[in-house]
Amino acid sequence: TLRTFGTKSRQPSHRRCVPGRYLNPQAAGLSNLKTLGAQPRQSLESFAPKGRGQRRPIIKNRVIPLDLFGHEDPEEYAARRHRELYEETEKITYPSHEALAEAIRSCSRCPLRKEGGLGPVLSTGPSDSPLMIVGEGPGGVEDDYGGPLVGPSGQLLDKALLSVGITRDHVYVTNIVKCRPRGNRTPTMEEGRFCGSIWLAAEIALVKPKVIVGLGKVALRFFLGHEAGIIRSRGHWIDYHGIPVMPTFHPAYLLRQSGRSLVDAKWQVYYDLLAAKEKAAALSPQWVWKSETMPNLLENLTEERKRRHEGNHMSSLQ
Ligand code: URA
Repeated sequence: TLRTFGTKSRQPSHRRCVPGRYLNPQAAGLSNLKTLGAQPRQSLESFAPKGRGQRRPIIKNRVIPLDLFGHEDPEEYAARRHRELYEETEKITYPSHEALAEAIRSCSRCPLRKEGGLGPVLSTGPSDSPLMIVGEGPGGVEDDYGGPLVGPSGQLLDKALLSVGITRDHVYVTNIVKCRPRGNRTPTMEEGRFCGSIWLAAEIALVKPKVIVGLGKVALRFFLGHEAGIIRSRGHWIDYHGIPVMPTFHPAYLLRQSGRSLVDAKWQVYYDLLAAKEKAAALSPQWVWKSETMPNLLENLTEERKRRHEGNHMSSLQ
């Protein structure tokens, strides 16, 4: 089956990565290391509290660690906001997938909704699947058809899933942000955190996956709650409120590679997906992972596509 995914040669050194090694800095007791001489990073500045001499914030009887100048570490701050948003939004639960889909369709809470796409792109796959795959945000084909990861990246994902014995109709696939960012740009961390904390959190509460696979750095940063690089983080389990998350490369990254780095990256994705499937299968031994024939996703989305182009998705916004 590996052949279908196009990998031919050796198994690289990352095989030694131990699934189960958690990359959660707080769990590892490393949460304060970044404060030593670290400058706030550019994209987090808007999240970081500004100004000097603030009072030490006390949240739920927990004293927030501040540096010598009274500033909270920006990454700590971002992670704290992430936790708070999660706690706030977790209370909004939806009785069914249809109710959640309706709520997502009528969302216009952030500027992404007006960036020119046809409307929120929801999910594919069974909502009782033990494995959830989370991409970044819809691209052009996804916006056209109304399903996540059905364009070129999605086709490569399907091959990668098949290489570990999964057909796409047996996993739940969704995105961090639901609306297409203009010109296929990568969603910012703030956009990911905002949309993900509302809608992805609600999806996770409904689907209750045993394992999540996060594709690319937008997903990685959402689940981790702060900035991190995908090259170093992939293959290491993250704990997202009790759910193990395996970050791996986004298929779009593979599509940009060639030669040896492409072969290596494909092996890495293969082992990440395999680790995720094995963990999910151990927790849900009765789950069937594969259909006899490959599902035709685009055909299955014909109705949804028609609805989007007719503008029905807009009616709930008016
Ligand atoms: N299409 C999606 O739906 N998600 C991605 O992450 C990329 C393309």
